[in-house]
Amino acid sequence: MDKSEKTALSLSGILLVVFFGAIMYASIAKNIDVPTCITDMDPFVSDTLFETGSDSYELHMVARMWAFQPSTVRLPVGSTVDLYVTSQDIIHGFKIDRKNVNLMAVPGAINYVRVTFDEPGEYLYACHEFCGAAHHTMAGRFIIEDRNDLTDAGGPL
Ligand code: CUA
Repeated sequence: MDKSEKTALSLSGILLVVFFGAIMYASIAKNIDVPTCITDMDPFVSDTLFETGSDSYELHMVARMWAFQPSTVRLPVGSTVDLYVTSQDIIHGFKIDRKNVNLMAVPGAINYVRVTFDEPGEYLYACHEFCGAAHHTMAGRFIIEDRNDLTDAGGPL
């Protein structure tokens, strides 16, 4: 074996020990852990959409391979939505068509935006980060309609 190969091999071994030591130090001495799976908890499991006031709502959206939960959200015209987005598995994106909303859906973290729907119609939302084989199918929609039509359809969501 050449001397330079021996040196490279030795350096690699030393770096492996240093990196492993750094991980153990972070884990044991600094108590740093992987993120908890917040998608297992409320309000991301049930009651994902609820009314917080007159025409204001809170919506908790979960992204996963390859769908959003909920996939369809019905709301009255003029609704303001506090939107909380997270991911169950890997990094996804969340973009609402015709709205200034563009978030990342990150496992173990919650991203927030407030959005108001002043015009009736359908607002598609889609994943904008390539997340695997069915990334192109990962989409949903807000259906914004008159309050009377909404009541006929059985209320929000
Ligand atoms: Cu999720 Cu692309």
